[in-house]
Parts: sequence; C-alpha cells; structure tokens
Amino acid sequence: MELSPTQQQQFDRLLAGAQQAAAHAYCPHSRFAVGAALLTAEGEVLAGCNVENASYGLTNCAERTALFSAIAAGHRPGSFQALLVYTPNAAQITPCGACRQVMLELLAADCPVFCVGNDPVRVRQWRVDELLPGAFTLP
Ligand code: THU
Repeated sequence: MELSPTQQQQFDRLLAGAQQAAAHAYCPHSRFAVGAALLTAEGEVLAGCNVENASYGLTNCAERTALFSAIAAGHRPGSFQALLVYTPNAAQITPCGACRQVMLELLAADCPVFCVGNDPVRVRQWRVDELLPGAFTLP
C-alpha cells in the first residue's frame, strides 16, 4: 500500500484511534473486538467499537457505531475523509454487508476504507463503492 507522507500520518492517527476504540469493545459473545475510526473533514479522528447483545441480531458493529456517533455529533454525510477498521483478533478484517450498506449512504463513494488486522503488513484499502456493487438505493 503506497501512501503519501500526509496520508501515512492520517493512517497512523486513524489506526491509533481504532486501536483505542477496540480496547472498549463490548464483545462477551464473540470475543472478537473491533474498532473503527473516521477522519472528519476538519481532520478530527472519531472512533467507535462493536457493542454486542445477548439477542445477537441487536449487535452494533464498530463501523456503524463510529458512523452513527459522528452523524449524531453533527458531521454531515459524505464529509468524511477516510474510515479505518481494526481488529486485534484476526490477521485481516473486512466490513459486513450491513455496514457496507450504511457506509455507502454516509460516506462519499470514493472515500477510502482501510482494513487492518493484527498482521500490520496485510493492510487492505478499498473505495466505498467497490465494497457494495449494485447497492440498494431508494428511487
Ligand atoms: N464486527 C464488527 O464490529 N465489524 C466488522 O467489520 C466485522 C464484525 C463485530 C460484530 C460482532 O460483535 C463481532 O465482530 C463478531 O462478528
């Protein structure tokens, strides 16, 4: 993954934010902690973690926690510069289908999504619109 010095600095800040958030994950059912960090238009890092529930379907993934918190804090859909997803519990991670649908609505189509597991060499990067081809949208 080739990043400019500015992009590398942003990546490092996002990774630190996602790592801190993953430490707050509430995941007694899966024991799979995830942190997600958003870079706002103003250069602020906002993060979220997964929050599980004994009624499994109520679980909120880290990506949606970060995105919903950021919107609730007043940041506008489409205004974010990047999203990074991190887990300490696997070599790689990739966003679930539900989060891809939410990302498509709240992030710009060309917004970069970085995915990082506990093997730092295996960082992967996509554009939001690459993650959900043929996505549902309202007419
Ligand atoms: N999870 C996330 O938070 N983000 C992902 O990208 C994949 C999965 C969470 C949901 C659940 O709490 C746990 O990881 C196992 O699926």
